[in-house]
Amino acid sequence: MNIGIIVMSKTGHTLSVAQRLKDALTEKGHTVNLERVTAMNDTNKPSGKQLKDAPNAEPYDVLIFGSPVWASSLSSVMKAYMSQLPSLQGKKVGCFVTQSFPYAWMGGNRAVNQMKKICSIKGTTVFAEGVINWSNKKRENQIIKLIEKMSI
Ligand SMILES: Cc1cc2nc3c(=O)[nH]c(=O)nc-3n(C[C@H](O)[C@H](O)[C@H](O)COP(=O)(O)O)c2cc1C
Repeated sequence: MNIGIIVMSKTGHTLSVAQRLKDALTEKGHTVNLERVTAMNDTNKPSGKQLKDAPNAEPYDVLIFGSPVWASSLSSVMKAYMSQLPSLQGKKVGCFVTQSFPYAWMGGNRAVNQMKKICSIKGTTVFAEGVINWSNKKRENQIIKLIEKMSI
Protein backbone atom coordinates (compact mmCIF):
# COMPACT_ATOMS: atom_id res chain seq x y z
CA MET A 1 0.00 0.00 0.00
CA ASN A 2 0.98 3.61 -0.48
CA ILE A 3 1.33 5.06 3.01
CA GLY A 4 1.85 8.69 4.00
CA ILE A 5 3.08 9.46 7.49
CA ILE A 6 2.42 13.16 7.98
CA VAL A 7 3.71 14.77 11.17
CA MET A 8 4.25 18.06 12.89
CA SER A 9 7.27 17.99 15.19
CA LYS A 10 9.05 20.86 16.89
CA THR A 11 11.72 19.15 18.98
CA GLY A 12 11.94 15.79 17.21
CA HIS A 13 10.00 13.40 19.47
CA THR A 14 7.06 12.91 17.13
CA LEU A 15 9.40 12.74 14.16
CA SER A 16 11.49 10.00 15.78
CA VAL A 17 8.39 7.85 16.38
CA ALA A 18 7.26 8.50 12.82
CA GLN A 19 10.66 7.39 11.51
CA ARG A 20 10.37 4.10 13.40
CA LEU A 21 6.87 3.59 12.03
CA LYS A 22 8.18 4.27 8.56
CA ASP A 23 10.97 1.71 8.97
CA ALA A 24 8.52 -0.94 10.27
CA LEU A 25 5.98 -0.36 7.49
CA THR A 26 8.68 -0.28 4.82
CA GLU A 27 9.97 -3.59 6.16
CA LYS A 28 6.49 -5.01 5.57
CA GLY A 29 6.77 -4.12 1.90
CA HIS A 30 4.74 -0.89 1.80
CA THR A 31 5.75 2.27 0.01
CA VAL A 32 6.06 4.83 2.79
CA ASN A 33 6.67 8.58 2.66
CA LEU A 34 7.34 10.61 5.79
CA GLU A 35 6.30 14.23 5.35
CA ARG A 36 6.42 17.25 7.67
CA VAL A 37 3.86 19.91 8.43
CA THR A 38 5.46 23.24 9.33
CA ALA A 39 4.23 26.70 10.22
CA MET A 40 5.03 29.96 8.50
CA ASN A 41 8.01 32.01 9.81
CA ASP A 42 9.43 28.85 11.34
CA THR A 43 7.61 29.77 14.56
CA ASN A 44 5.66 26.56 15.25
CA LYS A 45 4.29 28.43 18.24
CA PRO A 46 1.05 27.58 20.01
CA SER A 47 -0.54 30.44 18.12
CA GLY A 48 0.98 29.26 14.84
CA LYS A 49 -1.74 28.59 12.34
CA GLN A 50 -0.35 29.75 9.05
CA LEU A 51 1.14 26.78 7.30
CA LYS A 52 4.39 26.76 5.35
CA ASP A 53 4.49 23.06 4.47
CA ALA A 54 1.11 21.35 4.12
CA PRO A 55 1.74 17.94 2.50
CA ASN A 56 -0.74 16.66 -0.06
CA ALA A 57 -2.65 13.73 1.46
CA GLU A 58 -4.34 12.84 -1.82
CA PRO A 59 -1.87 10.23 -3.20
CA TYR A 60 -2.02 7.94 -0.17
CA ASP A 61 -4.27 4.93 0.53
CA VAL A 62 -3.25 5.01 4.18
CA LEU A 63 -2.44 8.09 6.25
CA ILE A 64 -0.84 8.24 9.67
CA PHE A 65 -0.95 11.63 11.35
CA GLY A 66 1.37 12.50 14.25
CA SER A 67 1.58 15.59 16.43
CA PRO A 68 2.81 16.89 19.76
CA VAL A 69 0.37 17.86 22.50
CA TRP A 70 0.38 21.59 23.16
CA ALA A 71 -1.51 23.10 26.09
CA SER A 72 -3.38 19.82 26.67
CA SER A 73 -4.63 19.86 23.08
CA LEU A 74 -3.64 18.97 19.57
CA SER A 75 -0.87 21.38 18.45
CA SER A 76 -2.39 24.39 16.73
CA VAL A 77 -0.21 23.76 13.68
CA MET A 78 -1.46 20.18 13.19
CA LYS A 79 -5.01 21.28 13.90
CA ALA A 80 -4.76 23.92 11.18
CA TYR A 81 -3.26 21.37 8.78
CA MET A 82 -5.82 18.63 9.36
CA SER A 83 -8.70 21.09 9.23
CA GLN A 84 -7.77 22.25 5.74
CA LEU A 85 -7.51 18.72 4.29
CA PRO A 86 -9.95 17.70 1.59
CA SER A 87 -12.19 14.66 2.10
CA LEU A 88 -10.46 11.58 3.53
CA GLN A 89 -13.28 9.29 2.47
CA GLY A 90 -12.00 5.84 1.48
CA LYS A 91 -8.66 6.31 3.21
CA LYS A 92 -7.43 4.28 6.15
CA VAL A 93 -6.21 6.66 8.85
CA GLY A 94 -4.14 6.27 12.01
CA CYS A 95 -3.36 9.02 14.55
CA PHE A 96 -0.85 9.44 17.34
CA VAL A 97 0.50 12.15 19.60
CA THR A 98 3.55 12.56 21.81
CA GLN A 99 3.51 14.53 25.03
CA SER A 100 5.96 15.25 27.85
CA PHE A 101 3.62 14.47 30.75
CA PRO A 102 3.64 10.81 31.84
CA TYR A 103 0.00 9.80 31.35
CA ALA A 104 -2.37 9.93 28.40
CA TRP A 105 -5.16 11.49 30.45
CA MET A 106 -2.94 14.58 30.86
CA GLY A 107 -3.91 15.96 27.47
CA GLY A 108 -2.87 13.15 25.12
CA ASN A 109 -6.28 11.50 24.94
CA ARG A 110 -7.89 14.85 24.33
CA ALA A 111 -5.49 15.63 21.48
CA VAL A 112 -6.07 12.23 19.83
CA ASN A 113 -9.81 12.73 20.15
CA GLN A 114 -9.47 16.08 18.41
CA MET A 115 -7.67 14.32 15.55
CA LYS A 116 -10.39 11.65 15.40
CA LYS A 117 -13.09 14.30 15.30
CA ILE A 118 -11.45 16.05 12.35
CA CYS A 119 -11.11 12.67 10.57
CA SER A 120 -14.77 11.99 11.16
CA ILE A 121 -15.70 15.40 9.70
CA LYS A 122 -13.51 14.51 6.70
CA GLY A 123 -15.43 11.28 6.16
CA THR A 124 -13.30 8.54 7.68
CA THR A 125 -12.79 6.68 10.94
CA VAL A 126 -9.48 6.02 12.63
CA PHE A 127 -8.26 2.38 12.57
CA ALA A 128 -5.50 2.83 15.17
CA GLU A 129 -4.45 5.51 17.62
CA GLY A 130 -1.89 6.06 20.35
CA VAL A 131 -0.37 8.40 22.88
CA ILE A 132 3.36 8.34 23.63
CA ASN A 133 4.21 9.78 27.05
CA TRP A 134 7.79 10.94 26.77
CA SER A 135 8.52 11.02 30.52
CA ASN A 136 6.86 7.66 31.21
CA LYS A 137 9.19 4.76 32.11
CA LYS A 138 7.25 2.60 29.67
CA ARG A 139 7.76 4.92 26.73
CA GLU A 140 9.64 2.35 24.70
CA ASN A 141 6.81 -0.17 25.23
CA GLN A 142 4.28 2.46 24.19
CA ILE A 143 6.20 3.04 20.95
CA ILE A 144 6.46 -0.70 20.23
CA LYS A 145 2.70 -1.11 20.85
CA LEU A 146 1.88 1.82 18.61
CA ILE A 147 3.97 0.33 15.81
CA GLU A 148 2.20 -3.03 16.28
CA LYS A 149 -1.23 -1.39 16.15
CA MET A 150 -0.35 0.49 12.99
CA SER A 151 1.38 -2.39 11.23
CA ILE A 152 -1.01 -3.19 8.42
C1 LIG B 1 4.11 25.12 23.32
C2 LIG B 1 4.16 23.77 23.94
C3 LIG B 1 3.14 23.32 24.76
C4 LIG B 1 3.19 22.04 25.33
N1 LIG B 1 2.14 21.61 26.12
C5 LIG B 1 2.17 20.36 26.64
C6 LIG B 1 1.08 19.85 27.42
O1 LIG B 1 0.07 20.52 27.66
N2 LIG B 1 1.16 18.60 27.93
C7 LIG B 1 2.26 17.79 27.71
O2 LIG B 1 2.27 16.66 28.19
N3 LIG B 1 3.30 18.23 26.96
C8 LIG B 1 3.28 19.49 26.43
N4 LIG B 1 4.33 19.94 25.66
C9 LIG B 1 5.46 19.03 25.42
C10 LIG B 1 5.33 18.30 24.07
O3 LIG B 1 4.02 17.83 23.84
C11 LIG B 1 6.26 17.08 24.05
O4 LIG B 1 7.56 17.41 24.40
C12 LIG B 1 6.23 16.44 22.66
O5 LIG B 1 6.73 15.13 22.72
C13 LIG B 1 7.05 17.27 21.67
O6 LIG B 1 6.97 16.68 20.42
P1 LIG B 1 7.95 17.15 19.24
O7 LIG B 1 9.35 16.93 19.76
O8 LIG B 1 7.63 16.27 18.11
O9 LIG B 1 7.67 18.59 18.98
C14 LIG B 1 4.30 21.21 25.09
C15 LIG B 1 5.34 21.67 24.27
C16 LIG B 1 5.28 22.92 23.70
C17 LIG B 1 6.42 23.39 22.81
